Order: sequence, then C-alpha cells, then structure tokens
Amino acid sequence: MKRVTCLLYAALFLTSAQYALAQKPEDAIKYRQGVFRVIGWNFGSMAAMAKGKRPYDAEQFARNAEIVAFMSRLPLEGFTPGSETGDTKAKPEIWLEMDDFKAKMKKMQQEVDALAKVAKTGNFDNSKAQLGEAGQACKACHDKFRNK
Ligand code: HEC
Repeated sequence: MKRVTCLLYAALFLTSAQYALAQKPEDAIKYRQGVFRVIGWNFGSMAAMAKGKRPYDAEQFARNAEIVAFMSRLPLEGFTPGSETGDTKAKPEIWLEMDDFKAKMKKMQQEVDALAKVAKTGNFDNSKAQLGEAGQACKACHDKFRNK
C-alpha cells in the first residue's frame, strides 16, 4: 500500500511539474491522454476480472480502483484553452459546455471513489456492480465529448 501511495505521489509530482513547464496545447493534449491511458489500463484490469477473463484477485482489483480514483482528479487541468485542435479526440463542445463537462468529470470521480471503497471490502459482486456504474460515467462523457 505504502509503495502504491509513493508511486501515486511521484506521478502527481511529475505531471504537475510538467504542467507548470508546458504551456503548449500539444503538451496539454499529451498530458490528458497520458492520464486517461493510466486510467484505462487500470480500468481494463478490473473489467477483465469482472468479465471472468482473468481470475478475481481482490487485492489487485482494489489497487486498480485506488489508482483510478486518484487519477480521476488529474485530466481536467489538461483541457486548457487552445488545446481543442491538434492530435486529439476531444470535441470542441467541451470548451463551449465546460459546466456540463466538469459535471460529468465530477460524476465519474464520485463513482470511482465509491468503487475504491467497495473494492477494499473484497466483495466481488458488489465490486463488479460498482465497476458497471463507473463505466457508465465514463461512457456518458465519451458519448458526448469524445470523437470516435
Ligand atoms: C468528463 C469527461 C470524461 C470522463 C468522465 C472520462 N473520460 Fe476518458 N476521455 C475523455 C476525452 C475528452 C478523451 C479524449 C482526450 C484527447 O484525445 O485529448 C478521453 C480519452 C480517454 C482514453 C484514451 C486515451 C488515449 O489517448 O489513448 C481512455 C482510455 C479513456 N478516456 C478512459 C476513460 C475511463 C476508463 C473513464 C472512466 C473511469 C473515463 N475515460 C472517463 C473524456 C472523459
């Protein structure tokens, strides 16, 4: 656990430092995509267990959930003004409907917080159900604000 926390703080430090140095839109795009990739990696691990593609490992699941909950705080700052064009799948609507975008980000944070909590109990069925809720929160934003 301690080691995970250390790694997470290291990740936060690196990304924040990078953000401070990087004012260029292409760096903001890389930053948010990188954060989402970490989220996606960990989410995929849990989904594989939920679907029975991999045996359920309560500790691994809880670790994945903790990382996703932590990382869920990071992408928003990567959606800087001027980074709506370039090598990105983000739709320009994000910057026109920022309140809704933020609300969907917040909803996702709440669901993955709940996931991290339930994952710690080691109950597979409850963890699987909450993973589904969290997945819906990802999808709600992707459907509206992300290009295919
Ligand atoms: C509030 C909106 C929002 C929420 C919530 C959200 N995403 Fe995304 N996600 C985006 C946008 C926008 C992009 C495209 C970013 C870009 O290309 O600049 C993206 C990109 C991604 C990518 C591709 C990263 C890459 O470039 O390779 C993955 C993977 C991903 N999201 C996973 C998730 C998962 C898993 C969740 C839920 C736990 C989630 N996202 C929740 C908006 C969201």
